[in-house]
Amino acid sequence: MILALETSCDDTCAAVVDADGEVLSSRVASQGLLHARYGGVVPEVASRRHLEVLDAVAADALESAGIALDDVQSVAVTHGPGLIGALLVGLSWAKALAAARGLPLTPVDHLHGHVVASTLRPGPIEAPYLCLVASGGHTFLARVDDPRSYTVLGQTLDDAAGEAFDKGARLLGLGYPGGPEVDRLAREGDPEAYDFPRSAPGELDFSFSGLKTSLLYKVRDLGEKETERRRSDLAASYESALTSALVARVARAVGTERLQRLAIGGGVAANSELRQRLAELCAELGVQLWAPPLSLCTDNAAMIAAAARFTEPVDYPDYLTLDAAARL
Ligand code: KG4
Ligand code: ZN
Repeated sequence: MILALETSCDDTCAAVVDADGEVLSSRVASQGLLHARYGGVVPEVASRRHLEVLDAVAADALESAGIALDDVQSVAVTHGPGLIGALLVGLSWAKALAAARGLPLTPVDHLHGHVVASTLRPGPIEAPYLCLVASGGHTFLARVDDPRSYTVLGQTLDDAAGEAFDKGARLLGLGYPGGPEVDRLAREGDPEAYDFPRSAPGELDFSFSGLKTSLLYKVRDLGEKETERRRSDLAASYESALTSALVARVARAVGTERLQRLAIGGGVAANSELRQRLAELCAELGVQLWAPPLSLCTDNAAMIAAAARFTEPVDYPDYLTLDAAARL
C-alpha cells in the first residue's frame, strides 16, 4: 500500500495505490481560484497553501481508501521538477511521515509520473509504448521500453502547450487557466477562420511561441470590438493550430519508432479536440490509444504512486538528506 504525495505546482495531491496499480483513492485540492486573480501561479502563495492543506488532503486520501496510517507500507513523493518551495513542503512532509513510521521513501520524478499514469488499473498499458505529455509546464514525446524509465524523443523548445493555451486565452480576454475555456469556446467557432502558423522545428520537437505571437498580432489588428465578436473563431483556429502541431509529431513518432501503443498525459490531454484527433489518427494507423480519465491527466498523486512502483525506494535514514530539485 503506497501513500503518494504531489505538491510540485499549485495542486495539493495525495493518493493511495496498491502494488498492482489499483487506485484506492486520489485526492486533489486545487489552488486554481487562489492564483486566478494574479493570472498565474505565485510560487510563495502555492507553498503556503500546500502547508495549510496537506495534512487534511492526506487524511482524506487515507479515509476514502478505507485504510489507516498503519496500513501504509511505503511513502512516495515528487522531488522535482517544479516550484522549489512547493516541492519542499511535500518532500519534508513525506520524510517526516516515513521517518516516524519507519517506512521506506520513494522520490519520484514528476514527469515519470505523467509518463506512467496509464500503467494504473483498470486496463493498464504495457511497454513498449509512445507517450505524449503536454501540460502547463512541459511538453514532450517519450518512448517507454520499460516503465522504470523513459527516453525523450522530442520536446518543446520554448513554451509548453498548456502555457500556449493559457497565454492565448489571456489574449482573448479569458480567465486563468485558459485551456479549458479555449476548449469550450472553440466548439462554437470555425477552426479555419484564421490561418495560424503550425511550427515544425526539428523532427520531433515543438515550438509554440510563434503561434502565440501570431495571435497577439491578430488581436491587435482586429481591435477590441472585433476580437470580442470573433472570439470563438479565434479560439477554434488557435486550438486547431496548436493541436495540429501535437498530432503531427505523434504521427511522425509512431512511424519512426514503430510502436503500436500511445498514451497521453498532462493537462492538455484533457483537450477535446486533441483527444478526438488522436483517436482518429490511432484508428487510421492501427495504434491502440490510452487516453486516461482527466483526473489522471492533470496533476495528481496516483500517477506519482504509479511511478513509485517502478522506482527504487530509499531506506531510513538515507532519505533524510534527499533534496528537492526545480529541474531534474
Ligand atoms: O498537468 P497540469 O494539470 O499541470 C501542470 O503540470 O502544468 O496541466 C495544466 C495545463 C494548463 O495550462 C491548462 O490550461 C491545460 O493544462 N489544460 C487544457 C485543458 N485542460 C487543462 N488545455 C487545453 N484544453 C483543456 N481542456
Ligand atoms: Zn504535471
